[in-house]
Amino acid sequence: MAYETIIVEVEDHVALITLNRPNALNALNDQLLGELADALTGCQNNEKVRCIVITGSEKAFAAGADIKMMSEKSFVDVFAGDLFTPESEQILRVRKPIIAAVSGYALGGGCELAMMCDFIIASDTAKFGQPEINLGVVAGLGGTQRLTRAIGKAKAMDMNLTGRFMDAEEAERSGLVSRVVPAKKLMEEAMGAAQKIAEKSMITVMVVKEAVNRSFETTLREGLLFERRVFHSLFASEDQKEGMAAFMEKRTPQFRDR
Ligand code: CAA
Repeated sequence: MAYETIIVEVEDHVALITLNRPNALNALNDQLLGELADALTGCQNNEKVRCIVITGSEKAFAAGADIKMMSEKSFVDVFAGDLFTPESEQILRVRKPIIAAVSGYALGGGCELAMMCDFIIASDTAKFGQPEINLGVVAGLGGTQRLTRAIGKAKAMDMNLTGRFMDAEEAERSGLVSRVVPAKKLMEEAMGAAQKIAEKSMITVMVVKEAVNRSFETTLREGLLFERRVFHSLFASEDQKEGMAAFMEKRTPQFRDR
């Protein structure tokens, strides 16, 4: 499929997906979300891809869902049409890790897309926000749910009720992003992190993603049991034998995803 609103490049086992609607600050319309979901599914099915990075432009990761696209829609249009549901569910089905590399605005659906990724690396110019309240709506892709889990109720309420933006420093302090780097270093840092992940055993990487995500869906006791059982089950893999043997032999492990 040829894409018009995103650019997909695969190099050294890392897929880089660049959101590319510069005139609309990468606002998420049906086409962009559809193309992104399709590209991510393609990455999931492409054996060459071991980690994915999603980024935008220097000015904007994405300034939200496309307001021009939504402005004339009725309740029936969005409810019966299930606006954003198929694409977001398709994105969440990706089992390979996804890093969001955020520079500039990550607002509304843009902040929510970043939070759908497995972790966020931000440039020092990044600005996060859930300004939907200014449009007479609320967040629709996780801004009241994932943001609350990421930064807690007080800050999530503040962001969603006032619509204020949070800068990169506050976002890191609050636990929304894992690292902040100078703008010029953003892609080097994100691609470096992706490269590191790409060198691991893919089986183990997918187990980590599933286990951490499980912590959001279950009780601590059940989550710990899930973790212990997947830990146990990895002893059936060749990569566990290789990883531990390599440690003892003081060499780099050669994982084979088995
Ligand atoms: N949808 C559609 N177009 C958008 C857009 C959006 N979310 N954000 C920016 N654009 C467009 C602007 O309309 C403008 O296009 P034109 O030149 O054709 O007028 C272009 O991008 C550049 O934007 P600005 O001129 O506004 O740039 P700025 O630097 O002055 O301001 C900004 C930047 C503060 C990000 C401002 O564009 C803005 O506030 N954008 C909207 C942010 C927002 O409300 N996001 C939430 C959307 S709703 C949502 O996301 C729902 C959900 O949870 C799923």
